[in-house]
Amino acid sequence: MIRINENYTKLKASYLFADIARRVNAFVAANPAKPVIRLGIGDVTEPLPPVCVDALHAATDEMSRRATFKGYGPEQGYAFLREAIAQHDYAARGCVIEPDEIFVSDGSKCDCGNIQEIFAADLRLAIPDPVYPVYVDTNVMAGRTGANVDGRYEGITYLECTPANHYVPAVPSVATDLIYLCFPNNPTGAVATKAQLAAWVDYARKNRAIILFDSAYEAYIRDPQIPRSIYEIEGARDVAIEFRSFSKTAGFTGTRCAYTVVPKTLMAADAAGQTHPVHALWNRRHTTKFNGVAYPIQKAAAAIFSDEGQRQTRALTDFYLGNAKLVREAMTQLGFASIGGDNAPYIWVNTGRDSWEFFDLLLNRAQVVCTPGAGFGKCGEGHVRISAFNSRENVEAALTRIAAALR
Ligand SMILES: Cc1ncc(COP(=O)(O)O)c(C=O)c1O
Repeated sequence: MIRINENYTKLKASYLFADIARRVNAFVAANPAKPVIRLGIGDVTEPLPPVCVDALHAATDEMSRRATFKGYGPEQGYAFLREAIAQHDYAARGCVIEPDEIFVSDGSKCDCGNIQEIFAADLRLAIPDPVYPVYVDTNVMAGRTGANVDGRYEGITYLECTPANHYVPAVPSVATDLIYLCFPNNPTGAVATKAQLAAWVDYARKNRAIILFDSAYEAYIRDPQIPRSIYEIEGARDVAIEFRSFSKTAGFTGTRCAYTVVPKTLMAADAAGQTHPVHALWNRRHTTKFNGVAYPIQKAAAAIFSDEGQRQTRALTDFYLGNAKLVREAMTQLGFASIGGDNAPYIWVNTGRDSWEFFDLLLNRAQVVCTPGAGFGKCGEGHVRISAFNSRENVEAALTRIAAALR
């Protein structure tokens, strides 16, 4: 008889955003006259930058003519995009990343979810808590964990992010093999300094481990001292893979384009101790299971790197950061300690009480949706995430309502 992958039965029954949607839908059904403002889910609200729209139109016209029509492209991405990324995102910041070390994809969610399959099944994992749920769930599916006991999977070293460490975890005292780090962080909005990242690179080098560095929100970094890439840290090329996405940089959540950097100097061992380039494995996986991002979408992504594209995407991220500043200031005025919002589009509010209780309070009294921290892990309890992705008008209205509800 056909059988299932039983690792899936270890996954927690429902997904965080489904739980939130259920409560919000119930509220809306019971209170149709009270409009709800959503500062919960991390999706952008502003339209694509005009340079991207122009590039999409032009590329669509190319697809309409026999002479310029494109069928399958290179699975790893067109050279024009890989070269633009290598130049603008890396060389311009002093990082040595070659275009053929960049793999263009249709999203960082897939990339951070898929990457684990090129590594051994019995690896020791280090994963932050709270965390973007994809890192944990994809390893559960792959069988790298035991059961979920009291909200935590057996077999994971959880990197606790708490007020005590300002939500940036220190390296663990035990050895691990595959380490997930995300800065600017979702959900906390925390960023890591050069010294903090250097400690992680050092730890990975000593333990012959690999860091999976998710920098989906790097475009929000405004502090010039904060690294935008793990490759700004010396030695990181030998121990780190980096994920980047155009989703939050340029409003591509519905357009879909991202990339993963796998340096050719990154090695991992087989059971006999012989080392293999990880780049070759990821190239094999990517070309076997993925057939490339649509040509017009890659053209739209490349447009971001023009001077005008840089101005427009900067204006877009500045806009959301303006919202974030308002949220952070309002929560501070209400007496809550919070972080994030200055180099990230998320504000992590220390509510000092149960996070679902606080979620219900904001929903019922202010008709504002936030995200309960407990949904991101045990250490998320006592916190909520407020997202800056909304119109200015909605953010201002939400903050007025929150102030009235909590006073
Ligand atoms: C930390 C983090 N990584 C990756 C992603 C996914 O990005 P993409 O839209 O490229 O799949 C998100 C999306 O919210 C995220 O928060």
